[in-house]
Amino acid sequence: MALVKIPEQQVTLRDRAEVTAFLASHGIEFETWTPEHPIDADASAESILAAYAREIDALKRRGGYVTADVIDVKPDTPNLDMMLAKFSREHWHDEDEVRFIIEGRGLFHIHPGSGPVFAIEVEAGDLIRVPRGTHHWFDLCVDKRIRAIRLFQDTSGWTPHYTDSGVDKGFEPVCFGPAYVARG
Ligand SMILES: [Fe+2]
Repeated sequence: MALVKIPEQQVTLRDRAEVTAFLASHGIEFETWTPEHPIDADASAESILAAYAREIDALKRRGGYVTADVIDVKPDTPNLDMMLAKFSREHWHDEDEVRFIIEGRGLFHIHPGSGPVFAIEVEAGDLIRVPRGTHHWFDLCVDKRIRAIRLFQDTSGWTPHYTDSGVDKGFEPVCFGPAYVARG
């Protein structure tokens, strides 16, 4: 279940209804999905897409997405640092950024048009839809592991446009989830 942190206000949201409502107030859709049947985290991309076919189809209809794929990022993924550097600077896309997390975790920072920057830490079971044009950046957690379904309206529209605002440099790309919760 995703957590939201608003550093400027020293606020962390962990409650499902609060997280969902806060993200919705910024136009970001958040849901949690459960698979049609149990699947292993290392299952093939095809079987993962099949297990979530119902949710994917519903989302495709709602958002006009035409394709779905599965990305698999591990610490030994070739050129990992180069790949991550592309997305860890503030940017926006002509496409929505739609991710359903199958395994691992990741940290989205959102820089809204009004209000302070906030972070969303996503984990397995979380669906997030960040509308096109939203300023954001993304980091992996220390374990550098994420497997996720992505949905696209048009894959050519999914190039990052950098803002070069430097805002991203003021925020630590540190995940806070399970350890933070464990400490209460
Ligand atoms: Fe992005």
